[in-house]
Amino acid sequence: MPKKNIENREDISLLVRSFYDKIRADKEIGPFFNEMITDWVPHLEKLTDFWEINLFGGKLYKGNPLEAHNKVDDHFGNTISSNEFGIWLNLWFETLEEHFEGENVEILKRRARKMGTFLMVSIYENRAKNK
Ligand code: HEM
Repeated sequence: MPKKNIENREDISLLVRSFYDKIRADKEIGPFFNEMITDWVPHLEKLTDFWEINLFGGKLYKGNPLEAHNKVDDHFGNTISSNEFGIWLNLWFETLEEHFEGENVEILKRRARKMGTFLMVSIYENRAKNK
């Protein structure tokens, strides 16, 4: 299948859906998602909003990823580590490369990697606060 650039919401939606198919099927990190996310339709919409504004701007996404991941880490007894973030990022890169090519692929790799660092720091701070 020829690869294309990431140009619009439809592309982001394909990216997000394909990515979460992989996530949910992953033995190591799938359970985190399958347990916490009970309604996948709004979750996939939210994540499509999130990455759409990340690339193209706008105000669709209203959420707090730092708080959301602190909660996930609390829920699972503070077991999220750089291993889980590594798997997440590998699947993200893999999905991007399977479907797309071009500058926006590189931008989305960079942004996710950066955000993973912020999320991890926030998780450690949250644990320290709750001690
Ligand atoms: C760079 C890495 C990651 C990025 C960019 C990312 C991004 C996001 C975003 C934007 C949301 C929606 C937050 C909201 O507004 O509610 C979310 C939710 C979620 N993330 Fe991540 N995430 C990352 C890594 C992880 C990892 C490693 C895990 C677990 C192992 C994880 C588990 C979850 C779960 C379970 C939710 C749903 C929380 C809920 O709705 O209760 N994420 N993520």
